[in-house]
Amino acid sequence: PQGWSSQALRGQAMAVENITYQGIKFPPAYNSERSLRFAHQEFQVQDDDVFNVTYPKSGTVWMTEILSLIRSGGDPAWNRTVLNSTRVPWFTTRLGLESALSYPRPRLLTCHLPIHLFPTSFFGSRAKVIYTLRNPKDVLVSYFYFSKMCSSYEDPESFEQFLGDFLNGDVPHGSWFDHVRGWMEMKGKENFFFITYEELQQDLRGSVQRLCQFLEQELDDGAINSVVENASFRAMKENKMCNSTLLPRDIMDQDKGTFLRKGICGDWKNHFTVAQSEAFDRIYQDRMRGLPEAFPWDAR
Ligand code: A3P
Repeated sequence: PQGWSSQALRGQAMAVENITYQGIKFPPAYNSERSLRFAHQEFQVQDDDVFNVTYPKSGTVWMTEILSLIRSGGDPAWNRTVLNSTRVPWFTTRLGLESALSYPRPRLLTCHLPIHLFPTSFFGSRAKVIYTLRNPKDVLVSYFYFSKMCSSYEDPESFEQFLGDFLNGDVPHGSWFDHVRGWMEMKGKENFFFITYEELQQDLRGSVQRLCQFLEQELDDGAINSVVENASFRAMKENKMCNSTLLPRDIMDQDKGTFLRKGICGDWKNHFTVAQSEAFDRIYQDRMRGLPEAFPWDAR
């Protein structure tokens, strides 16, 4: 989209040297062009791999908790004693790749890659992808606050500037629209499952049951209850293994925000002006044109 001149609003934001891989910006901490190229071109996907794929701020860490709880049959011990980044490694990063390569099969892995940068060895494999997406207006608000507390993300000058960058796809991990459109091309494939943050909010139990079905992992009622309980916002906020409070201050400054911030749907209404929301909707409609899917946030 043209005409949204966020450059002028950028002002004096602290400079962050992003990594660029194939035209997409990635935050410098943990990523390198080499690690991204390796993930894309050389990483060997196994048929029993399960990937947690998201655009940032769409429920990545939530799904990480759900998937590891399902994997351990509802027993929360693993989630409470082992860091989420070890349970479900970020194989695109330098450190995460080491964890991924030494991970006993079947692996749980996570990333924010758009489909065209996803490991080429995935295509043709039987590995499973779970793609979680969220109302992009709420993604944007969450991303705005997250960028303020993370040193490897440029501190937004203002909400208006960040909104412009988001709509232009000029944010780390690229355009939300391209990410979602790309991954939704997998819809209907038997190794692809997508779910929205809004569905998780509305019916976590039902969502967990559907995930178990997709993963071919049978859990009894008690185990499902435990997954639901331990993946609740409240339980996750208390769990140091997933609430990000153990991250060093120079990566995430807890004085500048909280990773598990609000955990609600519709917080965008507290941030967008009517004009910003209407401008967003126009661009959304244009960029999503032709996509047959109706999402919970789409006006029907
Ligand atoms: P908010 O900033 O809107 O609160 P990601 O893991 O992709 O970075 O996404 C982070 C967002 O997911 C944050 O959104 C966070 O609060 C929310 N989140 C994480 N776990 C959650 C849970 N159990 N229930 C509801 N929201 C959760």
